[in-house]
Order: sequence, then structure tokens, then C-alpha cells
Amino acid sequence: MSPATPEDGERLQKVLARVGIGSRRTCEDLIAAGRVTVNGERASLGRRVDPERDEVAVDGTPIGVKAGLVYYVLNKPAGVVTTADDPHGRPTVLGLVPAEPRVFPVGRLDMDTEGLLLLTNDGQLTHRLTHPSFGVDKEYVAQVEGTPSRRSVRRLREGVRLDDGPTAPAQAALVGPNVIRLTIHEGRNRQVRRMCEAIGHPVTRLIRTRIGPLADRKLKPGAWRELTTEEVRALERAAGPRDQLEQPAEPPHGRSRGRP
Ligand code: URA
Repeated sequence: MSPATPEDGERLQKVLARVGIGSRRTCEDLIAAGRVTVNGERASLGRRVDPERDEVAVDGTPIGVKAGLVYYVLNKPAGVVTTADDPHGRPTVLGLVPAEPRVFPVGRLDMDTEGLLLLTNDGQLTHRLTHPSFGVDKEYVAQVEGTPSRRSVRRLREGVRLDDGPTAPAQAALVGPNVIRLTIHEGRNRQVRRMCEAIGHPVTRLIRTRIGPLADRKLKPGAWRELTTEEVRALERAAGPRDQLEQPAEPPHGRSRGRP
């Protein structure tokens, strides 16, 4: 919904500049060039918006950062569960990030898996990133028992048979005598562990090193940081256009977008 009167809301170029699109002057030029839309309609200079409600996009890509929405990347250590509440009282990933505003993990990592995990209160982005039809690439480094042969690694690439069906083609390479780098876009339960098990090389340590465009080699285990505006926009792009959703994205926990 747009501001009730033309004087309400914030100037579009100010909102664009605040989320890092460019200087106000650059943003004015983008608007004048017709590259900015508000709720799907081309915006003109002088346009005001409500950043909480209006959907602003540049070249068709939503600017991605709305007031009240937060995006964290955590380097999950082993031994921490990816649920909001653990009935067994084990430490959870939510204990490692700020309690307010409340965020939720995007997908999950097994308790013993380490590495990058996104947490956000942006239910729509969560839905798009975890929806099977848009699954973004996720890269893992798996330490395994023994040294897989070239043939075994090729099997990972071409797809292995699991009890819930064959896996889709993946990228796989042996990067050390007992270390495999594997990139998959499906998000099946314990998928990497089961794939390695299927080729006869059970995983002894598993680390997620990339989620779509997002990687961070410097983030220490247990540490988190906010995503940059650019990173949020890159994830938005990787998740695919919003209008491809089959149905309106309901946040996973009954919360509405922009209302943490
Ligand atoms: N695959 C697994 O086996 N475990 C994870 O935690 C993530 C992917």
C-alpha cells in the first residue's frame, strides 16, 4: 500500500540510497531512467513510499531490505541444534544470535554439521530460499572415511540412489585424500551424509561453506554477523523472482513480512 497522501512516506531516492543502491543523485538518475518500480509500477521522480509496505525494485530486483527485517549469517559450531526450541534442552542456534528481533533459521543443519547458516525474520525470503523448486546451491566440504575413487566421486556427481529416491546431478570433487567438496541444490534430510554413505565413505566431519552467493571464510565458529545490503540483494536474486511463487508466501511461523 502506498502512502495515503503524496506528502506521506519517504522520498524514493532517499530509501534507495539508505539501502546502499548508490548516492541520492545516482538513485534519482535510476528513477528518471525508469529503472525503479514501486509495487510493480514504474516510479517517477518525486515519488514517496512507505518502506515498510511498498515493494521497491531496481531493474526488477526487490531492494530486499525493509525496515524491521534482519538477516544474519552464523558459523554454526558442531553440537548446536537448528531448532527454535529443543525439548532435550540442548543449545540451539538461536542462543548464538541476538534474541530481539526474533529470527528463524533458513533450513537446517544437523547437530554435528558446522558452517554457514542464515537466520532472518524475513518469512518470504525464507520461503523462497527453502522452496524445493528454487533450491539455491549449497556447498559442503565433507571429510570422509577412506579415499573415494574417481568413480565414486563421479557417482556423487551423476546422482546416487537413496531410500527416498535418486539425487539430482551435483558438483563433486576430491580436494584432499579424504575430503570431498560437494555442491547440491536439493535440501533433503541428511543428504550429504547419506550420499557419502551410499558411495561407501561415511562422513566424519561436515562443513557448509557456501549458500548460493553467500560465503565467509573469516567468520569464526560460533560467530555471526549481519548480511550486507549487497548480500541480501544477491540472495534475493538467487532465490528467483517473487512472482514465480506458486502461492503467497506465508512466513513459516505465522508472522507477516516486515512485522517482526
Ligand atoms: N547434508 C547433511 O547430511 N547434513 C547437513 O547438515 C546438511 C546437508
